[in-house]
Amino acid sequence: MGTPDKATIAIHHDAGSGASIPELRKGVAKKPRQAPLDRRSGIPLYHQIQRRLLAQIESGEFKPGSLLPSIQQIAARMGVSQMTVRQAVRALSEMGVIYSRQGKGTFISGIKLERDFRQVLSFTEEALARGATPSSRLLSFRIQAPGEPARAALELGENDSVFCLRRVRFTDGVPLGIESSSLPVKLCPRLMETFDPSTSLYAELAEHHGIQFFVTDEIIEVGRAGAEDARLLEIPANSPVFVFTRLSYLENGTPAEHVESIYRGDRYKVVNRLTRGKRELVAAPSPSPAWLPADVDG
Ligand code: GLP
Repeated sequence: MGTPDKATIAIHHDAGSGASIPELRKGVAKKPRQAPLDRRSGIPLYHQIQRRLLAQIESGEFKPGSLLPSIQQIAARMGVSQMTVRQAVRALSEMGVIYSRQGKGTFISGIKLERDFRQVLSFTEEALARGATPSSRLLSFRIQAPGEPARAALELGENDSVFCLRRVRFTDGVPLGIESSSLPVKLCPRLMETFDPSTSLYAELAEHHGIQFFVTDEIIEVGRAGAEDARLLEIPANSPVFVFTRLSYLENGTPAEHVESIYRGDRYKVVNRLTRGKRELVAAPSPSPAWLPADVDG
């Protein structure tokens, strides 16, 4: 595990041609040094903004302890709505790289940027963020009755059907995983007409069906590739693979995508940053934490 060339579920940041913080702070109206946001890339604008701000934090342009420009300033500078910037700022705050003080503003924290912080990213976003080129090979795309796990997870009735999309996902031409997504037909009835399966499903859902996933629950297990999957992934049969089961929810809590996928164990790794959040300082537990190792099984 942990070989450096493995693909990771990660945010890797733009090389960083961003505006400087003094410019942003002043809301300077001179010609932007930044390339405009790419509105056709399929990468949500808030995510692009988030990556730019991260690049500026990572490069040291935004120093720990200094003030982040206001939402209004960033929105004006980047030509987007304040709501979009707020979404990016919220995501950064959840990552722990910025924090707010009421009445004082939002500051850059000294917390080291964890490159592999996990977010609800599409395969395409993950690949692009790593500087790799994503592509897909369609195995099947059809409307069918859901399997029992998908029906239960998506809370579907007896007569509900799902779009079932099965694809091999590649980065730089190398197969990385096989994904089988199930989406309720009632949620996006025209998907079959509008979606080109060689492109990003999440971008399609966001742009043409107004569907965005906000939260994802994911179970990660380890398994072995069967003969057919191994052939598609170009690995020896029985090779170790990650087995992901993912359920993604809309903002209102509706479960909307159930995905079963397997990813090559030799080319993929999963890295999590875990946060403990803010909590009141409490009296030191007694006995002191030194007892932990001895009592851990008890
Ligand atoms: C990730 C998720 C899948 C999701 C896919 C969509 O790989 N694990 O659950 O279906 O992204 O990716 P894209 O938008 O590139 O098609």
